[in-house]
Amino acid sequence: MERKISLTGVKPTGMPHIGNYFGAIKPAIDLAKDYDARYFIADYHALNSIKDPEELRSMIYEVAAVWLACGLDPSRTLLYRQSMVPETFDLSTMLMAFTPKGLMNRAHAYKAQVAVNQERGKDPDDGINMGLFTYPVLMAADILIFDPHVVPVGKDQVQHLEMTVDIAEAVNRTYGKELFRIPEARVNAETKVVTGLDGRKMSKSYDNTIPLFLPRKKLQKIVMKIVTNSQSVEEPKDPETCNIFALYKLFTDEKQQTDLAARYRAGGMGWGHAKQELFEQMDSILAPMRDEYDRLINDRSYIDEVLRKGSEKAREIASRKITFLRKEMGLS
Ligand code: ADP
Ligand code: TRP
Repeated sequence: MERKISLTGVKPTGMPHIGNYFGAIKPAIDLAKDYDARYFIADYHALNSIKDPEELRSMIYEVAAVWLACGLDPSRTLLYRQSMVPETFDLSTMLMAFTPKGLMNRAHAYKAQVAVNQERGKDPDDGINMGLFTYPVLMAADILIFDPHVVPVGKDQVQHLEMTVDIAEAVNRTYGKELFRIPEARVNAETKVVTGLDGRKMSKSYDNTIPLFLPRKKLQKIVMKIVTNSQSVEEPKDPETCNIFALYKLFTDEKQQTDLAARYRAGGMGWGHAKQELFEQMDSILAPMRDEYDRLINDRSYIDEVLRKGSEKAREIASRKITFLRKEMGLS
């Protein structure tokens, strides 16, 4: 039986944090075991905001190295660059003809920027380029060109996925047949939200993150910054309400968790000790991936080769789709 297709796009936005790893990267890589997975670096999307060529280039290598170091197997999963599959832009142009402008006016990413401008008393469209405004159309093209069954995304992307479905349905309705498969969003479970240094959701916007790959010493330093209450060493402690323990659970098995929980409850263990335990576990899990990352980030030609091969295969599939659509729409 043919495997179902899973597709997602990743914006190159710098070193991900542990929340991104457990919430997005690991689930997508795990999904690739059962699905025919196609994962790409959304570099044209990134161009909307990053105008420094060297910065953009570095971020593209960085995101590719992260995913490869985290276990993405390029011989099983298509890993490619959006900009290297130009058929996407053919489709994006086609989809423009089916996308009501009003739909774009409602997109969160665009509306958020308008709201910032209004707050600052600026023109509503200040600093907004057409790339940002039409972003959901390009995203729909990224997706629909490969007819995926599922699209793993974060909650913030659900609205964009709904727009993709709206646009695909408009095309299917117009031609009276299923030119596109209707994709399904696979949203990260909210129950798995990783907490940050201050106990809130780990997020770049809260400045409470632990970056995924840090040298051992730096990782230790940041773990020591986790916020705790002022209980003394002697006092028994509750693992269930503790930020350190919440992170510890991500890196350990049940037995290790039961053991540490018992030491919490018995008293006599200070927060410094708990942090040290967490740090050692984290480091032992992350070190092999970090070493692989360090190796890959210094081997740009290997990454180039992976992305070139992946993009070539992706283009074969995409160009068949475009040929089919051109016929169906009367463009050839
Ligand atoms: P940030 O909040 O740091 O800006 P993003 O919004 O860029 O993170 O998230 C990228 C991906 O990582 C999304 O799929 C999102 O659901 C996931 N993610 C981000 N933070 C967390 C977290 N603390 N716990 C679990 N998943 C997360
Ligand atoms: N918009 C997504 C983000 O900001 C990235 C993205 C671009 C994407 N194209 C996609 C995600 C297609 C899933 C499918 O994170």
